[in-house]
Amino acid sequence: MKRIAVFTSGGDAPGMNAGVRAVVRSASAQGLHVYGIYRGYQGMIEGEIKRLEREDVKNIIHRGGTILKTARSMEFMTPEGRKKAYDSLMAHDIEGVISIGGNGTFTGANIFYDEYKVPFVGMPGTIDNDLYGTDFTIGFDTAINTAIDAIDKIRDTADSHNRLFFIEVMGRHSGYIGLYTGIGSGASGILIPEKSNDTESLIKTLKKGVQRKKLFSLVVVAEGDETGGAIEIAKRVKDEFPQFETKVTIIGHLQRGGSPTCNDRILASRLGHAAVEGLVAGKKNVMAGIVNNKLKFTTFKECITKAKVPHKDLLDLSEILALG
Ligand code: F6P
Repeated sequence: MKRIAVFTSGGDAPGMNAGVRAVVRSASAQGLHVYGIYRGYQGMIEGEIKRLEREDVKNIIHRGGTILKTARSMEFMTPEGRKKAYDSLMAHDIEGVISIGGNGTFTGANIFYDEYKVPFVGMPGTIDNDLYGTDFTIGFDTAINTAIDAIDKIRDTADSHNRLFFIEVMGRHSGYIGLYTGIGSGASGILIPEKSNDTESLIKTLKKGVQRKKLFSLVVVAEGDETGGAIEIAKRVKDEFPQFETKVTIIGHLQRGGSPTCNDRILASRLGHAAVEGLVAGKKNVMAGIVNNKLKFTTFKECITKAKVPHKDLLDLSEILALG
């Protein structure tokens, strides 16, 4: 293998740049030529492919976002789009591709491999941490630390005014961000898609708080919770406790930006190096992940079909510690 490409796709995640840097530097150390594909699958279709040398990735390890840009391409979902993408790769004699992204990225890569047999190795890059085959995804650690910083600030004002705050964090189908930030911020309630009946349990907790004359509370809600998000749940709770002054904060895309934490930089660096080694060794259609601190390759099929759910002990802990 002489020429490989790297791209980022789907929602950006802090640490993607550290991952691109690791791919370019590890591949260059092996004498490979690396090409950057810009704007994900859409850029692959449109032929936005440029050579990346070692110096092109200097001074990016600390930067959020992705220097390669990203996109969610509808065209790649069509056979015509994938044919154009294949032609672009062949025009640059690309023999293997490293894709950094989440579920949608690997679903696309899996179909593409079936049709064109171009080997892909993936790296998990999404703030949601919802990928099977790795304990943590690139960007998750930064996102939860950004959210915690915001929630701590909300705690100050909630305390001063005796208010009940509902804080919505990201996680389209997944409660990892909600669970970690909820436990880490000492929230009185955590509503995530992986827990059923969490509204009833929240109401019980709040009632106990009223009995103990608790003056303010923070409730963390994952955007993907079945209640419909923080605005909906705040309305329901207000009906039950009209005496509470309730407020809603949606942290939103703030969680996607910013300088990656050291953990995310290291994770991205390890996985970037592993992805290059894997590709050179002949791996294809797999994602490089870290499970129990060990490198593990998992097929794209498993990554996209198997559900990753938070450990039960963390879910239990969140209930026990909520009672303030
Ligand atoms: O997948 C990461 C994520 O940030 C989700 O948590 C969120 O629902 C989604 O992306 C938002 O996507 P977009 O930036 O396209 O609105």
